[in-house]
Amino acid sequence: MAPKINGTGVMPEDTRICVVMVGLPARGKSYIAQRAQRYLKWLSIPAKTFNVGNYRRKDAPHPSADFFDTNNAEGERQRRAAANAAVTDMIQWFKTGGVVGILDATNSTKERRKWVLERLSKEGIEVLFVESKCDDEELIMANIRDVKTTSPDYQGQDPEQAALDFRERIRHYEKVYKSINDDNDEDHLTYLKIMNVGKKVFINRIQDYLQSRVVYFLMNLHIRPRSVWLSRHGESEYNLEGRIGGDSLLSHRGEEYARKLPELVRQSVGSDRPLTVWTSTLKRTIATARHLPKHYNQLQWKALDELDAGVCDGLTYQEIADQYPEDFQARDEDKYNYRYRGGESYRDVVIRLEPIIMELERSENILIISHQAVIRCIYAYFMQKPQEESPWVPVPLHTLIKLTPRAYDTLVEKYDAKIKAVSTWRGKGSTAKHEDPTPEGGI
Ligand code: ATP
Ligand code: F6P
Repeated sequence: MAPKINGTGVMPEDTRICVVMVGLPARGKSYIAQRAQRYLKWLSIPAKTFNVGNYRRKDAPHPSADFFDTNNAEGERQRRAAANAAVTDMIQWFKTGGVVGILDATNSTKERRKWVLERLSKEGIEVLFVESKCDDEELIMANIRDVKTTSPDYQGQDPEQAALDFRERIRHYEKVYKSINDDNDEDHLTYLKIMNVGKKVFINRIQDYLQSRVVYFLMNLHIRPRSVWLSRHGESEYNLEGRIGGDSLLSHRGEEYARKLPELVRQSVGSDRPLTVWTSTLKRTIATARHLPKHYNQLQWKALDELDAGVCDGLTYQEIADQYPEDFQARDEDKYNYRYRGGESYRDVVIRLEPIIMELERSENILIISHQAVIRCIYAYFMQKPQEESPWVPVPLHTLIKLTPRAYDTLVEKYDAKIKAVSTWRGKGSTAKHEDPTPEGGI
């Protein structure tokens, strides 16, 4: 069979995987599912989460804990119907080109896992069970407080009451819950078991490339509080001339930004929080980082270098439009996929940034000083920006951006150095000149 090239390398054309989440409520299953989906979609791998709770809510929008009592026959019936509807929709979705489906439910009994495995195997879909097991009471209570009391299940209810009811719901699940292979009769399953947020992991029968990618990614996730700071380099000499690419030095104003950056960082990071600084290997990012406190670890990554404009490197947009009019138009039509002659596309940049994302997931506080296109790609990962939009996002110069990942979204804060700089943005279909970005859609 002809191999299909995808975002992460080569995978057989017919790979289809269902990641089946397993675990008691409030163990971070939806969190893990959402992170996996974001990562895969960013790499252009069609991925979709099917949350059984959403299906159940259609019939039972605000159930109290006894709905989940296994002696409640009507509750059991509705829950089984919801799981069935989710799996049916997922199988349908696989038929339309889906590659990684994520079944987000507790799947906490052996019977349920057997049923899921049989239904999916019949369709030729590989099944990877991912269990989150956690006995850290404090963390579980924090999870309940942080995300469960605001769940649509408890809409309009007192948070204290909601937390008590959710605790009761968990007790019902505990009565029937079996961790994967605890009775030594599920060794045939392919699974990843994550204990207490990665303190220990078990891996069993991981079969192929894509499965191991997903497993490796999930093993790197953590939930310690952290932020990622992004900054473009200070205004460069090429920016002033409207030229793209190159390896020029900073302009006077760019130098001013480099001197101001430590203060912005102090304001945003604080003075006693550890921080690691990553730059590209190009002069303008290294110069921008050079006044930062010496106790911050600094690392240069080639992967953070600006999108390679190939034969257009060093030209202005107007020169590109004059010398390569067809290319100029083709890039406007599909900027994400357009690859400069002898250079790169945004898609190429995303692929080379994959190790950066993996490392970011493992790390805590990181400041990345890089370039317009690269920052767009990293921003797109955290903000789940679609590929048609991400290459057009205005990323202002002389601005420090703070991203703080939360349970289900990412908080964005901006620190404007208030040092003038040229704009290096141009809108789709506009003239071949840099212009001031429209405020909407920017960071
Ligand atoms: P439910 O079965 O009710 O849907 P759930 O297991 O899907 O619950 P989440 O909604 O994902 O639980 O809980 C989110 C919380 O879990 C977040 O606050 C997140 O920080 C935390 N979390 C993420 N990963 C883990 C993990 N591996 N173990 C425990 N908690 C985690
Ligand atoms: O103009 C600054 C710059 O970083 C160039 O070096 C790079 O080619 C360009 O931005 C990327 O932005 P766009 O993809 O919008 O051309």
